[in-house]
Amino acid sequence: MKQRPVFLETDKLYFSQFIESDFTEKIPFWYSDKEVTQFLSRGTLPPLPALLKNDFDQLKQQNSEIQFAIMDKKTHQIIGLVGLHSINWLSRHAEFRILIGEKKFWGKGYGAQACELCVAYGFEALNMNKIWLGVNTENQKAFESYRRVGFKPEGVLRQELFKNGRYFDIARMSLLTAEYKKTKTDWSTLKWIKKQYPA
Ligand SMILES: CC(C)(COP(=O)(O)OP(=O)(O)OC[C@H]1O[C@@H](n2cnc3c(N)ncnc32)[C@H](O)[C@@H]1OP(=O)(O)O)[C@@H](O)C(=O)NCCC(=O)NCCS
Repeated sequence: MKQRPVFLETDKLYFSQFIESDFTEKIPFWYSDKEVTQFLSRGTLPPLPALLKNDFDQLKQQNSEIQFAIMDKKTHQIIGLVGLHSINWLSRHAEFRILIGEKKFWGKGYGAQACELCVAYGFEALNMNKIWLGVNTENQKAFESYRRVGFKPEGVLRQELFKNGRYFDIARMSLLTAEYKKTKTDWSTLKWIKKQYPA
């Protein structure tokens, strides 16, 4: 597969832009996969490619949403999406979201690396003070991976998500800029982050 422009990178992956076929040949399949969307609000409404594309076009114009394609460095295939949403430029906080849609890449460290890189981008490039996220309390894998990166629980939103006939609680987690400076010293991606953000 053809390499796309490398915006940011680690040893396993890079962040790049989306291309037209992502919206027809990849993302709708991920959003339709019950295993991928098991703990997410995604997967309830049908993922129409035209609407997906429209979503992403709006993201580009809004200045409050930044989304990257996660690319596998070896094969140059798109494996997921990662980004910062609801960016508040005054209070300097943003919501982190990630989805690795190619299931064969699960459990191999791609999620953790993409999370670290996107968080570093938020603090180093966008001057955020806080990055927060919402995670289904039953999504053990995601909760554990965020805890490992350094996110701390802030509280639980009770029965926040209705999915397939029942409600789920959503945990809010966050990482502050001062905490980021400490926790990144334990990250496997530290070398790559320092290379791209030497200050
Ligand atoms: C959640 C997700 C991002 C994790 O990415 P991943 O590449 O599978 O995870 P990683 O391999 O980087 O693992 C990171 C950490 O998660 C934890 N983890 C991974 N697999 C796990 C499992 N099966 N059970 C429990 N914890 C697990 C481990 O702590 C791991 O760290 P370690 O490898 O140092 O032990 C990815 O699986 C995904 O996108 N799932 C579908 C969508 C989703 O749930 N998104 C999150 C919404 S909040």
